[in-house]
Amino acid sequence: MREHSNTGCDIAFRNAVIIDGTGAQRFSGDVAVKGDRIAAVGDLGGMVAAREVDCAGKVLAPGFIDVHTHDDNALLMRDAMAPKITQGVTTVVTGNCGISLAPITMKGPPVPPLDLLGGASEFRFSSFDAYIRALETDGTPVNAAPMVGHTTLRAAVMKNLDRPASDSEIAAMQELIRECVEAGAVGMSTGLFYPPAREAPAQEVSALLEALGGTGAVYTTHMRDEGDHVCDSLKESFDTAAGAGAPLIVSHHKCTGRDNFGRSRETLAMFDHACAHQPVSLDVYPYAASSTVLLDDYMRKAERIMITWSEPHPEISGRYLDDIAAEWGCEQAEAFQRLKPGGAIYFIMDEEDVRRILSYPHSMIGSDGLPHDRHPHPRLWGAFARVLGHYARDVGLFSLETALHKMTGLSAEKFGLKDRGVIRVGAFADLTLFDPASVIDRGTFEAPAQPAAGIEMVMVNGAVALDGGRITGARPGRALRRAA
Ligand code: ZN
Ligand code: CU
Repeated sequence: MREHSNTGCDIAFRNAVIIDGTGAQRFSGDVAVKGDRIAAVGDLGGMVAAREVDCAGKVLAPGFIDVHTHDDNALLMRDAMAPKITQGVTTVVTGNCGISLAPITMKGPPVPPLDLLGGASEFRFSSFDAYIRALETDGTPVNAAPMVGHTTLRAAVMKNLDRPASDSEIAAMQELIRECVEAGAVGMSTGLFYPPAREAPAQEVSALLEALGGTGAVYTTHMRDEGDHVCDSLKESFDTAAGAGAPLIVSHHKCTGRDNFGRSRETLAMFDHACAHQPVSLDVYPYAASSTVLLDDYMRKAERIMITWSEPHPEISGRYLDDIAAEWGCEQAEAFQRLKPGGAIYFIMDEEDVRRILSYPHSMIGSDGLPHDRHPHPRLWGAFARVLGHYARDVGLFSLETALHKMTGLSAEKFGLKDRGVIRVGAFADLTLFDPASVIDRGTFEAPAQPAAGIEMVMVNGAVALDGGRITGARPGRALRRAA
């Protein structure tokens, strides 16, 4: 993989500790970038570069791929991608959990959880192609690999979402999926856990996955149940994906509720077993607290709850539900109802499960950050830096090579992102330079909106997006359409 070239290049990273994203051991050397690609890797002493970057003591890695995001609309906004760029992320996979911005337009307010992406006026793309073209016209700070969401499709073709789709509605959704895949969608997601998709039986999902047509487009799922019935839901997910021949990615894998603490031993054994028969993997965020809209089921199960936004009570963002209830002189359950519509952070997982899932060989890192929350879960600003600084360096859960593989090479492979996620000659120049001694997440549950420490330079398609820790404002990101 080391090559020499004497021709000039645009930028040369010198004396870096290179970790190439494949999981291979680090080595020291130089990396040269020309145009949007990596031109050479190795000892490049003879090469002339328009810009030299001294990387002594720093790690140069492929730019991080955030495989679980809700950045569909944030990508199109002016400054909403700062939480990702400052962490070293160069590609985001959008449309997770059944929620995608396209293809749908709305009159009334979006049904939760679609409102995680914004109000009705934000849902402005009647076709997936129009959405992808908007990404390309305005340019985006990082690359986007978009998926289409099942809940969005249901909302687009069904009046009432509290029942299974009829045959004609399934046919209409299949038609939309074919258009999305044609336009370049990298996969389809479901959010069967959420009320507007909960009544969709497995057969509905199977029928829709058929429309992916064996293109290799992935199926990602926020499963029907991540608590008491987590194993049943896993089985359902394996079966539906296998039936349609779609590669499966289980979203933000976790076991919720005290009664289910420790059950990742069972669920990961199920993954091991499934892996022998079909392509399955999973993503995970490095925290023992989840975050989503206000859901009664979670309210009952969580150890503690912090409100992240509330439409009727915006002033309450960032406060704990027990404190709010005490102040209002009511039960927590009643306060919870009065805060709707809104969102919350739920302390609902076991740290040992989080570590076991993070360490699992087939798990990738996804932030599941919610960019439009007033007081977001700190994963939005910190997931990647936390895996590198806290879990790899401080806790010693795995090597830095393994940590980086889970956020680069493995992710590109699972989502079919060609020439991304690795440092090698000819790959796209998506690169992140960081200090392995100081990299860490700084956002906390109390003060989440803090850029990560230790990320020094980020390059997207050969253009500098973060320089000396500062965002340049460049929009060199591309829509990564699934290759035909
Ligand atoms: Zn989800
Ligand atoms: Cu999600």
